[in-house]
Amino acid sequence: MLDNLPYFQQHLPEDLGKVNVVINRAVASEVALISQIGQYIISAGGKRLRPIITILAGKALGYHQDPLYSLAAMVEFIHTSTLLHDDVVDESDLRRGRKTANNIFGNAAAVLVGDFLYTRAFQLMVGSGSLNILGVMAEATNIIAEGEVMQLMNIGNIDITEADYLQVIQYKTAKLFEAAAQVGAILAGANAQQELALKNYGMHVGTAFQIIDDILDYSGDVEQIGKNVGDDLAEGKPTLPLIYLMNQGNAEAAADVRYALEHADRNYFNKIHDHVVQSDALAYCTQQAQQAVDRAIASLADLPDNDTTQAMHDLAVQSVARLA
Ligand code: IPE
Ligand code: IPE
Ligand code: MG
Ligand code: MG
Repeated sequence: MLDNLPYFQQHLPEDLGKVNVVINRAVASEVALISQIGQYIISAGGKRLRPIITILAGKALGYHQDPLYSLAAMVEFIHTSTLLHDDVVDESDLRRGRKTANNIFGNAAAVLVGDFLYTRAFQLMVGSGSLNILGVMAEATNIIAEGEVMQLMNIGNIDITEADYLQVIQYKTAKLFEAAAQVGAILAGANAQQELALKNYGMHVGTAFQIIDDILDYSGDVEQIGKNVGDDLAEGKPTLPLIYLMNQGNAEAAADVRYALEHADRNYFNKIHDHVVQSDALAYCTQQAQQAVDRAIASLADLPDNDTTQAMHDLAVQSVARLA
């Protein structure tokens, strides 16, 4: 998704190379199963969006010393641990184009190795020596957990409001994007206004990103997203396209969605997919994501205008463009 960004073409491989050095060192354990599962999910790649945001936040303020790459790796570890846990919770079979860790190694191993990566991330944070950074990440991880539990409580809930949905995605996803940007800002010695700008940038990009991800669970291509489509419906998860159809779709679509959510059955996928793609649901969700992107871009106004903030602008635009 970042292919057409000139900045990234020039600098990203070098930056991510430095992050990967930390990741590969930090994933190692004397316990063979930990290294095996850790390597399995990490070597599958992923877009590395959150560490990219940490790096950009630091570089936007002129900071690019080694600790930035350790923190970027730390953020990717938190993300990876949530994926290991999330795929157990969501009973997902495909991630990053490969079978999920839970599918291959079982739920217990996936959860426990998720715990290892999660706690290793805290060790990396302590390495930064900043209580401020530790505080940001302690809060972020706590909020992510709340978001996942709130979402669990909303399974099969056909009365969920758009505001409830937005809160869940802000907690479970946008919070980590926010923290990723904020820790880069803190490390770079940002002033209060710059820190807030970067924090808001991350939060809005993360919101747009999850809205698009929720659309792709219906309209996406398995090859392209590396995950199965239809997992959300199979779980009875009321995401924005379905909330739109229940509130503003035609009577048949609204009734079908309510039924499918309450029965959480993959067999309804084709029917619901058709409602989603044949209605205004996708346009509506894209518009909501675009609004978040516009807010992310507006936050950049409080930062210096340089190549890095230009790249941040492009990254925000691309977070919606990946739909195309
Ligand atoms: C997946 O995130 C989880 C969501 C918040 C949607 P990504 O799509 O960034 O996952 P990877 O790291 O690129 O695989
Ligand atoms: C991911 O949410 C959020 C976290 C991992 C905390 P989803 O469940 O929507 O993401 P995917 O679709 O599995 O990547
Ligand atoms: Mg999931
Ligand atoms: Mg989930």
